[in-house]
Amino acid sequence: MTPEPVTPEPVTPEPVTPDPQLLEGARAAFRQAYAPYSRFRVGAALRTPDGRVFFGANVENASYGLARCAEQSAVQAMATAGAREFTDLVVYSEASPPASPCGACRQILFEFAPDARVVCVNHQGDVVSGMVRDFLPHGFRLEHRDDGHEVETE
Ligand code: THU
Repeated sequence: MTPEPVTPEPVTPEPVTPDPQLLEGARAAFRQAYAPYSRFRVGAALRTPDGRVFFGANVENASYGLARCAEQSAVQAMATAGAREFTDLVVYSEASPPASPCGACRQILFEFAPDARVVCVNHQGDVVSGMVRDFLPHGFRLEHRDDGHEVETE
């Protein structure tokens, strides 16, 4: 018997349309994914409060455990540019239901943006969405981080 497709459940109940700029960015990143082992490509795009957009794709390795997820790559790009917060993240895949961030990525997202909106979308337009804190209830965070939201400028 063929299993029934799973209907994607929004983490929060309201219907959400992905931000067009982030959706396009996440799709572009998806096309750059390096996933020769899993053949499962993922792209991510996030926006900081000042409007900058950063992208990430999953990058795998012959030593399989070294694979890096799209969401983590996008957060790394953001932090490397000196940004310390984001408000919106779109994750694009061709999975049904759309791939939602893995457990490790949820913690990585939580470090910078527990209140950011996450919209996971696939090629069919199915959406799974919610805030980072909905995806990671009781996430771990240290209040007294060394650099807080400050960035060294020179
Ligand atoms: N992957 C992501 O990049 N993001 C997710 O949200 C789920 C999983 C990647 C990791 C690996 O390269 C491939 O998808 C299969 O697990």
